Amino acid sequence: MQKKAPIRVAVTGAAGQIGYSLLFPIAAGEVFGPDQPVILQLLELPMALEGLKGVALELEDCAFPLLHGITCTSEMETAFGDAGAVFLVGSKPRGPGMERADLIKENGPIFIGQGSAIDANASTDVRVLVVGNPCNTNCLIARHQAKRTNPANYTAMTRLDQNRAAGQLAIKAGAPVSSVSHLAIWGNHSPTMYPDYENASIGGKPVTSVIHDTEWLDGAFLKTVQQRGAEVIKARGKSSAASAAFAAIDHMRDWFRPTPAGHFVSMAVASDGSYGIPEGLIYSFPCRVDAHGHYEIVQGVELSDKARTKAMASAKELVEERDAIKDLLV
Ligand code: NAD
Ligand code: LMR
Repeated sequence: MQKKAPIRVAVTGAAGQIGYSLLFPIAAGEVFGPDQPVILQLLELPMALEGLKGVALELEDCAFPLLHGITCTSEMETAFGDAGAVFLVGSKPRGPGMERADLIKENGPIFIGQGSAIDANASTDVRVLVVGNPCNTNCLIARHQAKRTNPANYTAMTRLDQNRAAGQLAIKAGAPVSSVSHLAIWGNHSPTMYPDYENASIGGKPVTSVIHDTEWLDGAFLKTVQQRGAEVIKARGKSSAASAAFAAIDHMRDWFRPTPAGHFVSMAVASDGSYGIPEGLIYSFPCRVDAHGHYEIVQGVELSDKARTKAMASAKELVEERDAIKDLLV
């Protein structure tokens, strides 16, 4: 069988917390598959390049058979050159007492320059995942630069929220997490997100027929998922890192392979107006990926009045975030 050409994978903020948990599984083949060689193109601020060198040394020391090269750079053109996949992680994390949206003035401008450099240098079919917060609106900023690359291929991460929600349901039901399915996150990666348990299943049965405690579902469950990032920051003194990295792996891996029949995954993508969500907002929907790596927003999910109200409230927050950064949509 003919060997595959390596895929160039750009990761920004590669010397940071998330970077340290993300790079090794990518190099081990956990994202692009066991027969897909990768070349890592790692971007950092000049002051973090020495630390990044240490990470690169460790990557070499793992002797990953699929790792065909590592570039460490603070030049965006080099990092994004011919990239087929980009993880935009590099940005400031929030500290205790902050909301993710508080980061927009500081982090937002990063995504103008990086969006523009991706568009100028990456492969035309590059797939971009924005992790840096506030990730939906940062993605909106980067995507605005897409002229040569496909604007549909700019996405943001709500997979961590999906994984958190699945974990909580599994614990409550006393069931393995692998038995939880059809669990979509709607909206923003913020406390307004809505984890739609009403359409989710545990062991093939509706969640509400397995977990009868509706007070918990509408109360503690929603609050735990919506506030989990802050809970981790309070406990660790730092924002989530390994769980975020593994969610990024899940997001990109599930974008590079077809979604199993009848299933979906949560991806924050540009709204096409589906479900009445204003067009162009980067909003988390249930999505399916076809055999060519194209995703579509799953249609026909029945949202209760309660769910619809919450889904629209999160859209309203995203409209407000967009208004707050309209000067960055240049
Ligand atoms: P970190 O501070 O440990 O690492 C960030 C790294 O980015 C640093 O090494 C820094 O030097 C680098 N960096 C900053 N600006 C850069 C730029 N312009 N170009 C290249 N590199 C740059 O932070 P972290 O814990 O890795 O978190 C990174 C981001 O991910 C934060 O914004 C955080 O809030 C976000 N995050 C998102 C999710 C999610 O679910 N979407 C989950 C966790 C964290
Ligand atoms: C998370 O959800 O853990 C991240 O977005 C980090 C944060 O600031 O909450």
